[in-house]
Amino acid sequence: MKFETRCVHTGVDKDATYLSATTPIYTSSTFRWDDSETNRGFDYTRSGNPTRQALEENIASLEGGIDCKATATGMAAVTATMQLFKPGDHIIAGDDIYGGTYRLFHQCYSRFGIDFSFVKMSNPDSIKEAIRPETKGIWIETPSNPLMNITDLQAVSDIAKEINAITIADNTFMSPYLQRPFENGIDIVMHSTTKYLNGHSDVVGGCVVTRTDEHKERIAFHVNALGISCSPFDAWLVLRGVKTLGPRMEAHQRAATAIADFLVNHPKVEKVYYPGFADHPGHEIARRQQSGFGAMMSFDVKGTRADADKVLTGTKFFQLAESLGGVESLIAYPETMSHASISEEARREAGIKETTIRLSCGIEHPDDLITDLEAALG
Ligand SMILES: Cc1ncc(COP(=O)(O)O)c(C=O)c1O
Repeated sequence: MKFETRCVHTGVDKDATYLSATTPIYTSSTFRWDDSETNRGFDYTRSGNPTRQALEENIASLEGGIDCKATATGMAAVTATMQLFKPGDHIIAGDDIYGGTYRLFHQCYSRFGIDFSFVKMSNPDSIKEAIRPETKGIWIETPSNPLMNITDLQAVSDIAKEINAITIADNTFMSPYLQRPFENGIDIVMHSTTKYLNGHSDVVGGCVVTRTDEHKERIAFHVNALGISCSPFDAWLVLRGVKTLGPRMEAHQRAATAIADFLVNHPKVEKVYYPGFADHPGHEIARRQQSGFGAMMSFDVKGTRADADKVLTGTKFFQLAESLGGVESLIAYPETMSHASISEEARREAGIKETTIRLSCGIEHPDDLITDLEAALG
């Protein structure tokens, strides 16, 4: 089956009684046993649920993994993945990862004896320099948030294999339609399904996809043990969203390409961060490991924070809000939103300015979105 067909059909068929065309929502918290030894594959919804399993089978197939566990949020997916490590371990992560992930690493897991180095992930040398004998994991977000830096997945995976470290890719920004990190040797893929996989800004969820039996068992164990699995209703919403992933991503990218071209030529725009531009430092790598440049971009407005504020509050279709990946376009301010939990010093170090604005281009008509930005830029 081709990708788009798997989006629509994989895992979906769960109703042998009435042959419903879509997956029912099994809200039941518990499932009857036939006798004291036998149940029909499900006993308690925290551990397993047919609706959630439909979603898990679907996403595992899209990413090319052997298993997927759907979690309550994207942060729950990060939490599940972190259970693969233990006190004393050292993890290398990008210095421009999602602020919530940074906060979890820096303020929570470091208290439990896991040490982190935050490096320029797009530069393999800075990864090599950070390696220690106890380095056990490398955490990658590519393209990164919000500056769209590109990490060479294969290069990092090769480095990690030499030191026997686990590589984890947060594939939220791309979705499996545009990037499948397992094809570049990555060990674990995670998502905030809140974003493109669901695609309609009406659910918060996450998932962890694995490709070895060992990782499959350990992630499944911890998602159940920690009690962080996705609710059946949320799983059903994401499954419904995933069915249109391919056409949505095409529409998102059509808007993004037009908007990037518009912004780069605008006199009030200092710089546009979009990997689709040939002069973007990660363009060639993105070309190689992605099948499109996605629909996320950032730009620096000329001037001061007041100029940025004018744009942020001046759009109509681009709603000023956190998050990304929904059909509706969003405009966001990393400084006080996604990256507020990072210190100002760390933000500047990562290249995020007080004039940096992030866009999640939706699937509205590109002409309307450009008119919207044109009016806000003034
Ligand atoms: C790249 C990335 N990873 C993880 C998360 C966390 O996901 P959630 O908000 O679903 O917990 C986000 C949220 O914005 C994100 O952008």
